[in-house]
Amino acid sequence: ELYNEPYRPQWHFSPEKKWMNDPNGLVYYKGVYHLFYQYYPEDIVWGPMHWGHAVSQDLLHWEHKPVALYPDRHGYIFSGSAVVDTRNTSGLGSLENPPMIAIFTYHDPKGEKEGRNDYQTQGMAYSLDHGDSWTKYMGNPIIKNDGFKDFRDPKVFWNDKSDKWTMLLVAGDHLQIWLSDNLIDWKKVSEFGRDQGAHGGVWECPDMFKLQVEGSKEEKWVLLISINPGAPNGGSGTQYFIGDFDGETFSSDQEENRWIDWGMDDYAGVTYNNTPDNKRIFIGWMSNWLYGQQAPTKKWRSAMTVPRILSLKKIGDTLSLMNYPISQFNAIVENGIPKNITIDKKEKTQVGFDNFNQAQVTFTTDAKDFQLVFKNGLGEHLDLTMDDHKKLFFLDRSQSGTTDFEKDFASKEQQMPIGNLPSGPLEVRILLDRSSVEIFIDKGQYVMTAQIFPNENYDTLSIENRSDRTINLRNFVVDGIHGVW
Ligand code: FRU
Repeated sequence: ELYNEPYRPQWHFSPEKKWMNDPNGLVYYKGVYHLFYQYYPEDIVWGPMHWGHAVSQDLLHWEHKPVALYPDRHGYIFSGSAVVDTRNTSGLGSLENPPMIAIFTYHDPKGEKEGRNDYQTQGMAYSLDHGDSWTKYMGNPIIKNDGFKDFRDPKVFWNDKSDKWTMLLVAGDHLQIWLSDNLIDWKKVSEFGRDQGAHGGVWECPDMFKLQVEGSKEEKWVLLISINPGAPNGGSGTQYFIGDFDGETFSSDQEENRWIDWGMDDYAGVTYNNTPDNKRIFIGWMSNWLYGQQAPTKKWRSAMTVPRILSLKKIGDTLSLMNYPISQFNAIVENGIPKNITIDKKEKTQVGFDNFNQAQVTFTTDAKDFQLVFKNGLGEHLDLTMDDHKKLFFLDRSQSGTTDFEKDFASKEQQMPIGNLPSGPLEVRILLDRSSVEIFIDKGQYVMTAQIFPNENYDTLSIENRSDRTINLRNFVVDGIHGVW
């Protein structure tokens, strides 16, 4: 039965039981990727937050660890990040055994009840045994609150522009940047965003990092800001800004709002600190605050996205943040046999596979008017449509399986503008698990992630050519994906 309940993800991370939301404290240390996460061990809905913990060597196979951080007299343990203090700047470890340091938000439920506006503060904990056990810092909270109702989700990283530890914090409608020499004493140096970006909801879970533009020497900074509500398809979602950071201040180059993922189920995503080769690896919470707590699972609730590598690419005149499954993912893929599929104008073809809900479908095509429908014997189906005329990609899960647990889950077709796709053949790659679909167009230029709850595996894929010419899907392949539990 273990990890084999209805809808249980077979190759994505999910907690063994109970409620999970945001990924926290993503840090790599001594061959191990740590994944902490917002966790409520008593129920399958959100409650007093802890940090759950799991570890992996490949970001695919996970080992569950005991809960790392419990609420204390300062409050619940909200989202935050972790670093390895290699030079022992905090003095909490030694040079021989540098401390792992977690910095998180304390949410004091008493203060909230009393209607105060200073009940979120920032706290710290450290571990001297590679994350197995944690001690809260005596002087908590390390950052108090000057009257911001929402003041949270610290992302800490080492910034070699000013040779300081840097903390990103969100305060309702803007980002604050703080600097420190020792991870304990912090000073605010700048703010960003009161009048930039999307503001349909509260800003949450910031992240910021430098990336080199593919095929050039140019470097740019990327800022991720999750927002709830206000995402393009409703509920919570993650926007990004491309710009510059001088060591203290971030400035954005862009005018329009950009989104890392257009599907409804990729939220609060952040990246790993301290990775080998400085790779930017992103993991998001595969759910949405609109309906996440009503999802039709009983033992546990929600999963993380497939880990994704982030990169910057110039497409036409526009710099785009690409997100695409990490290459290690191929290690759990059982390669199918590629073939070329030709479909006459307005015709359909069908592909069978015993379990599309643990598989990936990949092909390359210059067609931009087609529909893919994954179906099962119960008549449930998931519809994905590329529409060249409207320059939109649609995801319709209204008939995909169980949808009636919450009215907003499937009431609208989800849309993604695809106006900047390059001409010529493009890769379409679709990853499915028992309760999710992740679509990557043009290697991560356009991405949609969505939960689905089919009551039987999809076993048929129907492909319709909606254009007035014959289309070719080259190297069309369905690969099985091994379970990781
Ligand atoms: C984002 C979020 C964070 C907060 C945490 C609480 O999903 O609301 O802003 O720290 O969840 O669980």
